[in-house]
Amino acid sequence: MDHFQLRNGELYAEDVPLARIAEEVGTPVYVYSRATFERHARVFREALEGLGRVHLAFAVKANPNLAVLRLLARAGYGADIVSGGEMERALAAGMPAEGIVFSGVGKTPAELAQGLDAGIGQFNLEHEEEGHVLSALAAARGQRVSATLRVNPDIDAGTHEKISTGKADNKFGVPIGTAPEMYARLAALPGLNMRGVACHIGSQLSTVAPLEAAYTRIGRLIADLRAAGCKVDRADLGGGLGVRYRPEDVVPWPNDLGEMVARVTKGWDVELMFEPGRVIAGNAGVLLTKVIWVKPGVVHPYVIVDAAMNDLARPALYGAYHHFEAVRPSGEHMTAHIAGPVCETGDTFAMGRDIDRVQSGDLAIFRTAGAYGATMASTYNSRSLVPEVMVDGDRYAVVADRISAETIMQAERVPEWLND
Ligand code: LLP
Repeated sequence: MDHFQLRNGELYAEDVPLARIAEEVGTPVYVYSRATFERHARVFREALEGLGRVHLAFAVKANPNLAVLRLLARAGYGADIVSGGEMERALAAGMPAEGIVFSGVGKTPAELAQGLDAGIGQFNLEHEEEGHVLSALAAARGQRVSATLRVNPDIDAGTHEKISTGKADNKFGVPIGTAPEMYARLAALPGLNMRGVACHIGSQLSTVAPLEAAYTRIGRLIADLRAAGCKVDRADLGGGLGVRYRPEDVVPWPNDLGEMVARVTKGWDVELMFEPGRVIAGNAGVLLTKVIWVKPGVVHPYVIVDAAMNDLARPALYGAYHHFEAVRPSGEHMTAHIAGPVCETGDTFAMGRDIDRVQSGDLAIFRTAGAYGATMASTYNSRSLVPEVMVDGDRYAVVADRISAETIMQAERVPEWLND
């Protein structure tokens, strides 16, 4: 459920007409709904109630905007981070350091040190050498730092290959078969306090079945580790729940996850950790855009909008579907291609789609753009970096400015010797 709904024939974000935001801030612009974020954060938490100790760490990569992180910090969420930059953001947004989990296959020694200095709560190790380096850095500071070993359970998550992370040949985690011996070696290091295991098998999962298969393997691993005398008191079960992009999509609800986790993790006696991203942020944001032209085409007309692949990369990267709707729908439909102004054919949001009839100057939205939207934007074609707005009831705030080519050029230099 989200708060981007039609009222008197036009789309609103909560109590603010989207047309007003377009008028005052300009387009393209991402628009977030505070109430939707808070609702998703609450529903996800409630679905996991009764499971004992649970830590929720929002996957910052899904939406790192400071206002979003602040909102989630107030809702009791920690952060799952994958870079020093995400760490800075989570801390700046007021997330307590001990609630931050550092994931990622390529943490540099400098980033590990940054995490130690900040006092973050847990490092999810992706391989053995990383553990040795982290232990040495921690021991040199007189610290013993909480860590888990991320295992790769070799499960096909049944999602797009570019966002599948738990198959044996994916770059993430260590093969589950090698985990017990490696875990014991890591537990013997002076700077590490090995707390348990972590896994994340992929994103936009359309059922919880692959998660259940992965967690079942994790449960066996925990039993094996304990049988070998290792201490295990945490299990980080990752993120991955899919959200509805097409109106007809069938996706798992947080309750489906909660019921499955209750069944599969019975008797584990650990603190469970989750790293949800998309399920919290996806439907809490839309990309508001303006139709520049409706250009006749050979098969269908091209609706050329002022948003492009640099603003919302998912269609070009993954062939992803984002639902397109007119802000003031006339009730009539048309079949059209939808594309942006960027100079490549990949800058196409949809081909031959049945959409609300639109014409030049009309406003429209791409839905489900709150996760992996603004954060994946670039300035390709020297387009501005897209701004972000958060709505709260009948008020809104610009929570990220539009960054123009002029500003970006201030960080560029023409060396003297090119003027010789
Ligand atoms: N934890 C880890 C270790 C992850 O790698 C990810 C996502 C998450 C948590 C959050 O997963 P979620 O709950 O959002 O599914 N850019 C892609 C998505 C990449 C996701 C990568 N990892 C997209 O636009 O679909």
